[in-house]
Amino acid sequence: MRTVVPVVETVVETPSTVTLRFDYPPEAAPGQFVMVWLPGDDELPMSLSYLEGPRKGVTIKAMGGSTRAVLGIAAGAPIGVRGPYGNRFDLAPRRILVVGGGSGTAVLAPAAEAAARGGASVAVALGATRASELLFRDRLRAAGLRVEVATDDGSEGTPGFVTGLVERWLSTEPFDAVWTCGPEVMMAKVAALARARGVPTFCSVERHMKCALGLCDACALGPYHVCTDGPVFPAERLLATPDFGRFHRDAAGRRRPL
Ligand SMILES: Cc1cc2nc3c(=O)[nH]c(=O)nc-3n(C[C@H](O)[C@H](O)[C@H](O)COP(=O)(O)OP(=O)(O)OC[C@H]3O[C@@H](n4cnc5c(N)ncnc54)[C@H](O)[C@@H]3O)c2cc1C
Ligand code: FES
Repeated sequence: MRTVVPVVETVVETPSTVTLRFDYPPEAAPGQFVMVWLPGDDELPMSLSYLEGPRKGVTIKAMGGSTRAVLGIAAGAPIGVRGPYGNRFDLAPRRILVVGGGSGTAVLAPAAEAAARGGASVAVALGATRASELLFRDRLRAAGLRVEVATDDGSEGTPGFVTGLVERWLSTEPFDAVWTCGPEVMMAKVAALARARGVPTFCSVERHMKCALGLCDACALGPYHVCTDGPVFPAERLLATPDFGRFHRDAAGRRRPL
């Protein structure tokens, strides 16, 4: 489906992050994304941070010009949406450690909620630069999940990177799977920690996207198209590529260091 709909609600989540809610009926699964655009601007891939029922949501962090434009959007303004695209998190594991870094928590929150509703025990390690940038901490706690936080500047929770929390949690509790989304360097570290304990890790990765249909090659990551083979990948597959945690591709397809 591809359409233009009015934004029904905007929610300021953190000083740099806004959620847009809009009515978009197609069913979507945890982990999937949509392509969104403001009239006259280019499309951007965005994870669905709310996906139950017709009222969907995307949660956007201000990075460059395109995402900054979204921060100023008001309820009632039109937004283009197509999708949903991509694969999903497998909800079968019973004991899941969810590791979110910054805006990466946007894709993890609905997946963690769905797993918990299905009876899984879900622990969440949430990381951000500072307390005010912790995304969906209250939402996840309200859903009954165990949430611990780490902040780079020590303003809330454990001081330092979220990987410190992950190390502690993995050494004290058994998990069947780790789900993570955030900076690739963080995800690579999380995957290495989990591998040392024999716990499979699944990463939601980002790449430049144009078609989202597996046709244009813009989102190539090793032998994979992130738009159709992902965005959720077993970490073992990603670690076997030369790019994961090191390079991405720009709009022209040039390989650039992350
Ligand atoms: C599957 C997936 C899910 C994502 N989910 C989220 C999310 O939930 N929240 C979030 O904040 N970000 C998400 N992103 C990242 C987001 O799509 C942008 O790449 C990022 O926010 C950069 O935006 P910008 O403002 O810096 O772009 P700019 O610096 O303004 O970009 C310059 C130009 O490049 C284009 N561009 C930039 N990045 C991309 C891209 N990845 N694909 C296509 N065109 C691009 C812009 O439209 C613009 O024309 C996701 C990416 C992917 C692949
Ligand atoms: S965005 Fe075109 S192949 Fe993935």
